[in-house]
Amino acid sequence: MKQKIPETANIIPSDFVIIGGTGHLSVRKILPALFWRFLDKQIDKNSQIILCDRNIKSPSEFFDNLKQHCSEAIKKDKNNKIIWEQFLSIIKIIELDVVSGEGHLELLEILKANFDEKRPIIFYLAIASSLFGNSCKFIRDSGLNVPQSRLVIEKPIGKNKETAIEINNEISSIFKESQIYRIDHYLGKETVQNLMALRFANTFFENQWNNNNIDHVQITVSETIGVKERIAYYNEYGAIRDMLQNHLLQLICLIAMEPPSFYEADQMRDEKLRVLKALKPIAENEIQTGQYRSFSDELEEISNTETYVALKVMINNWRWAGVPFYIRTGKKLSTKASEIIITFKKKPHDIFSKFTQDTQDNPNRLIIRVQPEEGLKLKLTSKAPGPGGMRFFPSELNLSFGDTFSDRLPDAYERLLMDVVRGNQTLFMRSDEVLAAWDYIDPIVGIAKKQEPQLYRTGTMGPEDKILSLDGHKWIDPKDELK
Ligand code: BG6
Repeated sequence: MKQKIPETANIIPSDFVIIGGTGHLSVRKILPALFWRFLDKQIDKNSQIILCDRNIKSPSEFFDNLKQHCSEAIKKDKNNKIIWEQFLSIIKIIELDVVSGEGHLELLEILKANFDEKRPIIFYLAIASSLFGNSCKFIRDSGLNVPQSRLVIEKPIGKNKETAIEINNEISSIFKESQIYRIDHYLGKETVQNLMALRFANTFFENQWNNNNIDHVQITVSETIGVKERIAYYNEYGAIRDMLQNHLLQLICLIAMEPPSFYEADQMRDEKLRVLKALKPIAENEIQTGQYRSFSDELEEISNTETYVALKVMINNWRWAGVPFYIRTGKKLSTKASEIIITFKKKPHDIFSKFTQDTQDNPNRLIIRVQPEEGLKLKLTSKAPGPGGMRFFPSELNLSFGDTFSDRLPDAYERLLMDVVRGNQTLFMRSDEVLAAWDYIDPIVGIAKKQEPQLYRTGTMGPEDKILSLDGHKWIDPKDELK
């Protein structure tokens, strides 16, 4: 029987001020997430969402576009059309320039109407990180950095360690660390959090979780989409800074970290930081970059930006020494999937060696499906039924969250936004984590610059592997694991 997702606790009425509020991120991720939470009655009708932008061309066009991005939620139930209208009534759009301060009076006016020391004001900076400093100064100069204010910022924070330090300094000269929420939305994904439950709420895996038992780890974050309207941003950042510096490194941290004493923000971050500091600097033959063929045409100029990157990551500590973590991510690949595959070591001796089927060819694997078809799979070898002797077949224990739970799984942004209101920083990055990630990534960017990215055809899994084959391994295609 399907289980129901446990009910969510309501949050107190709050003000969400989204700077860059009519932009790409807001329309695609932040506002649909707020609408789902509103539908679930988790967000109170007395809350306000204030969208701030420098130029608001056509509000009606904006709302049409937003409606499309919320269509799944609107269509879910016939009453939802009414709730959609209620949701629109808590949204206000204002023109605001954080550099000149123009528009601040209107913002103050709106916030003043409900000002209360207990009512959180969430400033979400959905803009380029180069404007974070100006935005924080604007908030301070407008008298809006009050104890109940929180600041949410998106990755990538800076383009390298130097710029990340500058941004962190600008922000932390105005906001306290306890007010700052650095989002990496991968940390809000259900299965990523389930990785914590799998490791630390069970005894089963934790004593297997080391270099005595694990042969290697593969992480694939593959996307079928290209970069479309974000091409200018992407051409400056590339896959290494856009995906590797944050999402993939965070996944490595969660797989590799030691158990913290409590599931609590700073303890979690301390352990993740230890992993980042233990990463071995990579060698030139441990990185491979690629670019999908039409990228330069879309950009209308020749570019060396990587749209694909693969890496062999090694962790210098007792638990993980000798275990390669092969990671890859890319755009316009054949499958949209994010998946972690833990391959366990071969058994020391095969008592079935005289039987025809070699069970060594079927290693035990734990597959953690982050998306789509979220769930866990454990690959085993079993005996085929029947009196025909010992014959083996690959079998699996499969926990599919879609099959287990009756409702949709909430999107990462839904959970993270509610955590900001509740003041829970566990799933957000601390400044030292961001800097440690850049410490690892800056030299990688340097190596990648010296290599020409290999062109690959759209709809493939990127360029032919040059890393795993050196160790006698192969990439496992995420398609093989989909139903
Ligand atoms: C974002 C990147 O952080 O993550 C995008 O900037 C990428 O380039 C996106 O497409 C992928 O997120 P998801 O949740 O679709 O895997």
